[in-house]
Amino acid sequence: MESTHCKIVVLISGNGSNLQALIDASVHSNFKIAAVISNKADAFGLQRAQRDDIPTAVVEHKDYEDRNEFDRALMESIDSYSPDLVVLAGFMRILGAEFVSHFRGRILNIHPSLLPKFPGINTHQRALDAKEKEHGVSVHFVTEELDGGPVIAQDRVKVSKDDTAGSLAEKVLEKEHLLYPKVVSWYAAGRLKLENNQATLDGSALPEGGVQVHP
Ligand code: GAR
Repeated sequence: MESTHCKIVVLISGNGSNLQALIDASVHSNFKIAAVISNKADAFGLQRAQRDDIPTAVVEHKDYEDRNEFDRALMESIDSYSPDLVVLAGFMRILGAEFVSHFRGRILNIHPSLLPKFPGINTHQRALDAKEKEHGVSVHFVTEELDGGPVIAQDRVKVSKDDTAGSLAEKVLEKEHLLYPKVVSWYAAGRLKLENNQATLDGSALPEGGVQVHP
């Protein structure tokens, strides 16, 4: 049955807890992790992959003269595994237009906020500073706009008055670990597409904010 599985390449920069959720889910799901690529040689996620005999590669941005060279090397590394889908899981580099257009419609990102709120970094502290009552996670298609591609799904957590950036990050990560494998399995089943810059699920355009897992 292996040939029916959707082949994914996961890009990481660090701990890789989302990667672990994908590895665990892949055992009983319709996708298979063909490789894990990191832009940092010491990313703990590489060890998670190796533990499960998943091929790994490191493409370090500091080895390349500029962003375009790095993007190209990364693109070649990914393409060498011929994936159906590229999954960014805590990958902390901004990708250029050529890269994004090469993988258009077959690259997803997970972002720790309820987009369009708080694109970029330090999302948990910014949610606290803005006195948000709710915070959460979004999975979206990657487009040229940073954290701005069509949102596929979101899940949310309540912000309590004694939350810190650390406690919020933990609560949100728990949701991330459930949401990402679910969305990847939708893609793998051919249910999820990017059409005319619009995310569609089962042929219907998703509303802004995507599927709300716990509305
Ligand atoms: C996750 O919270 C992910 O959403 C976030 O980094 C963390 C990685 O954790 N990604 C971004 O901020 C992307 N801009 P992990 O390495 O344990 O999966």
